[in-house]
Amino acid sequence: MENLKFLKDVKGAIFDLDGVIVDTAKYHYKAWKRLANELGFEFTEKDNERLKGVSRFESLDILLEIGGLYFSEELKQAVAKVKNDWYVQYISAINESELLKGAREYLVFLRKKGVKIALGSASKNSKIIIDNLRIENLFDVIIDGNKITKSKPDPEIFLLGAKGLELKPSECVVFEDAYAGIEAAKGGGIYAVGIGSKDDLPNADLNIKGLYELLA
Ligand code: BG6
Ligand code: MG
Repeated sequence: MENLKFLKDVKGAIFDLDGVIVDTAKYHYKAWKRLANELGFEFTEKDNERLKGVSRFESLDILLEIGGLYFSEELKQAVAKVKNDWYVQYISAINESELLKGAREYLVFLRKKGVKIALGSASKNSKIIIDNLRIENLFDVIIDGNKITKSKPDPEIFLLGAKGLELKPSECVVFEDAYAGIEAAKGGGIYAVGIGSKDDLPNADLNIKGLYELLA
């Protein structure tokens, strides 16, 4: 298949974290739901889909819109901190058992082939997660929410990843589970593998269920 041929010759791979390497989306959901409930409204798993790949403050804006609430900037800062404190408490206990199927194995496989690897995650908490999962040594470059000025779907995060790997965008591949993340990759001229169905991620160059499929 033409698509798999591209992956075979790629020089650099840039990975989103939440939903691609580790199943942290459930903890983001738990914390956002707790916040919504305390603010007096419901927040469903379907609502949560809209927050995938979206930065913390943009996520809060969507949540408040769902609840029909309008907060000042100051109050938004305060509630975003409350949500993040809960989230950090949840993820402080995660370990290697929460790595998604095939994630570590695929990273190791790429390294053995000499493919350079970057992280491209919107999360400002990526360091705690990577440390807890003990996978820091598998990345050459880490670009996270602390290093970017524009959120996905802006391509900045992945262009910084490619630059960090000293490669052209066209020599890299991005692995993403969020629509906004695939848009970011495509906008940067990078081949995009979507972890998710063609229905959810119609903009991806290739759709797979998980990284384990690429090890077969
Ligand atoms: C992304 C998640 O990886 O990181 C989003 O998909 C999340 O759901 C975003 O909002 C920011 O994360 P954090 O950890 O900085 O609040
Ligand atoms: Mg993600």
